[in-house]
This record gives sequence, structure tokens and C-alpha cells, in this order.
Amino acid sequence: MASCIVVVFSRSGRTRALAEGIARELGAQLEEIRLKKVRNRIPTPGMILRGFKKGELPAIHTDFPDLGKFDEIVLGGPVWGFDIAPPVLSFIEHVNWSGKKVHLFVSEAFLGGRRALTHLKRILENKGARVEKERAFPTLLRHPKTLQICGREWAKTLKD
Ligand SMILES: Cc1cc2nc3c(=O)[nH]c(=O)nc-3n(C[C@H](O)[C@H](O)[C@H](O)COP(=O)(O)O)c2cc1C
Repeated sequence: MASCIVVVFSRSGRTRALAEGIARELGAQLEEIRLKKVRNRIPTPGMILRGFKKGELPAIHTDFPDLGKFDEIVLGGPVWGFDIAPPVLSFIEHVNWSGKKVHLFVSEAFLGGRRALTHLKRILENKGARVEKERAFPTLLRHPKTLQICGREWAKTLKD
């Protein structure tokens, strides 16, 4: 597989567990999208979603590696309110997607993953990315170790 990086936003660790399995299987670097503090605290999902309704994206740290040197990006995040969690959209704004091959994954309790993937794919394709594989993972009642295995299994299909 060409040089690949896995980028994930995760609030409570489930999507990170998936990402860990994916990165391990691909031998890829794993980077987390990290929220910046607002008035000395990490904003809650409620604060982020309220801002998002007003058209604001949450501020994130932008000290990730130069993504220009990676041929493929595997991007993932959780579903919030039947759509992708806004910090993933913040990350998308900081990258030049032109010509990038991208695989997408989302984690959901039980509903909204398909919608989140469709939304993400549309945004990325409008920015010039080529979205190849996508997957929604239900995480409810699943142990992080199980999620890591699910991530690894999916990552095998990315090597084809
Ligand atoms: C603010 C918020 C909204 C959520 N909305 C949904 C939803 O619409 N549909 C769903 O299936 N799960 C929803 N969830 C559950 C998460 O998508 C799910 O638990 C996910 O695996 C959490 O990932 P994380 O541990 O990486 O943060 C929501 C969670 C939060 C915190």
C-alpha cells in the first residue's frame, strides 16, 4: 500500500479504537484531531453542536504532519446528531484534498452513519479528493478491543 495516514476524531475512545486497529493493520501513522480549549476548557459536544447550528466550526490544533507526503488518508469520526461530528469538518478545512485518495469510516451507536458518510464524501469530492471505501461501525456495547479487531478486519479490504 502507498504511504498512508489514519486521522481520527474521537471523544470517548470508540472511534480511536477502530482507528488503532486500522493503523496497525496498514502499518500507518495515526493522528488525532484535537479540540482547542475555549476559556480554559475543552468544549462539550453540546457547545460544539450549538456553534455548528450557527455555522461555526470548532477550533482544532493544526500541528498535524504535512499531509502532502501521504498518498492515502483514512479519515474517521463519530456520528453526532445523525451527521459527522463537526471537529472532522474542521480538519477537512485545513487540508489540500486535491487528488488525494481517501477512505472514510464513522462510528455510531446505531443510526446516522450512512448519512454522515454521504455528507463527508460529498464535501471531500467537492474539494477534489477521490473517496474509495467507506464504512459505518456500530459501537454500542462493544469493547475497545473488539472495535480494534473490527478496524483491522476492515483495513484488510483497503489493501486490495
Ligand atoms: C453529542 C453526541 C451525539 C450523538 N449522536 C448520535 C447519533 O445521531 N446516532 C448514533 O448512532 N450515535 C450517536 N452518538 C453516539 C456516538 O456516535 C457513538 O457512541 C460513537 O461511537 C462515539 O465515538 P467516540 O467514542 O469516538 O467519541 C452521539 C454521541 C454524542 C456524544
